[in-house]
Amino acid sequence: QHCFSKSEDGYLYCEGVKVAEVMEQVEKRPFYLYSKAQISRNFEAYRAAMEGLRSVIGYAIKANNNLKVLEHLRGLGCGAVLVSGNELRLALRAGFDPTKCIFNGNGKLLEDLVLAALEGVFVNIDSEFDLDNIVQASRIAGKQVNVLLRINPDVDPQVHAYVATGNKNSKFGIRNEKLQWFLDAVKAHPQELNLVGVHCHLGSTITKVDIFRDAAVLMVGFIDEIRSQGFKINYLNIGGGLGIDYYHTGAILPSPRDLIDTVRELVLSRDLHLIIEPGRSLIANTCCLVNRVTGVKTNGTKNFIVIDGSMAELIRPSLYGAYQHIEQVSPPPPDAEVATFDVVGPVCESADFLGKDRVLPTPERGAGLVVHDAGAYCMSMASTYNLKMRPPEYWVQEDGSLAQIRLEETFEDHMKFFEGL
Ligand code: LLP
Repeated sequence: QHCFSKSEDGYLYCEGVKVAEVMEQVEKRPFYLYSKAQISRNFEAYRAAMEGLRSVIGYAIKANNNLKVLEHLRGLGCGAVLVSGNELRLALRAGFDPTKCIFNGNGKLLEDLVLAALEGVFVNIDSEFDLDNIVQASRIAGKQVNVLLRINPDVDPQVHAYVATGNKNSKFGIRNEKLQWFLDAVKAHPQELNLVGVHCHLGSTITKVDIFRDAAVLMVGFIDEIRSQGFKINYLNIGGGLGIDYYHTGAILPSPRDLIDTVRELVLSRDLHLIIEPGRSLIANTCCLVNRVTGVKTNGTKNFIVIDGSMAELIRPSLYGAYQHIEQVSPPPPDAEVATFDVVGPVCESADFLGKDRVLPTPERGAGLVVHDAGAYCMSMASTYNLKMRPPEYWVQEDGSLAQIRLEETFEDHMKFFEGL
């Protein structure tokens, strides 16, 4: 069951609520619209898949950092993966259990590591200088830190280069040839560091579970080697990265269960806890960016649908050439001509497009148009370029009622940065 569906009469619904009617209630445009129940269903798919394993589902907060979304996920039993001090602060505000939190990143700052040490979250060691900082943070906080070593299994995730991370030329993780150096360094700091496991993250938008299996085999090899030196490590963290059906072709992609099942035996064979760090596959398909058509125009050989949403609110198409499905929220007039359009925003850049070469019925001015799968890496990557202020967010709740879950950013918010200067 998916939250967004088209009825036979051509209206788009979010959990039984007509998106066209939501547009009448919400004056601001564009806006993000979520299904709260879909978030629960996505989490449940992971929870059920993890049954029989000792596990932590660490939601990657970078994908979507709406506080209400975080509180909801935390309430379902989710943990959190953080990549900055502010993400850590936000996770704590949202009430996440620090022992279900993992602080990750290639450039973690000392002051943020001190907070992580004080709060007792897991910390990934990413490099020699990072280890050094974690040791210092532990001394400042007066607390031993539970650490995982971030290893690059060097498995090709077969994704866009910008979102591939687990290869040997990546800026993340340690050099495998230096493993012994790191083990010795950990041994040399028994007061400060408690090595509990290993971590890897291969990349994002992965659609083949074999890739996770290949990585897990290599990671378990590292675990065996590390254990043979007397370390009692119990955690295997295989990162995030499961892709979703952005193309809406109905293609069957691997589910959380497929992913977990492919590593289950390995995890059990070594009596490990499994940590997984999903972002996209938990939150992307729970949300649409809802836009209004400003007008339609033709230049040269190109037809354009100009909408009020843009690369400022949703940058993935511009940045990665990513495809996100676009459709109208209401049936077009019967005589609407079907044509091929670029769907573009009002931002002053030719990179400002939400979709290229989309075959759509010519929309009327003011018609509603949604960009699907906008729950992950859309609002969290939004900017205020051209002073387009960040849009408000709403969700449809389980009882069908609409609630605002983030206020819109205003021009006055912008002017606050200059007050008193
Ligand atoms: N764990 C680590 C260490 C990560 O670096 C990431 C994502 C995740 C987990 C979550 O991965 P996911 O399950 O969401 O694929 N902005 C890009 C995606 C960047 C992903 C960065 N790392 C996009 O819009 O496609």
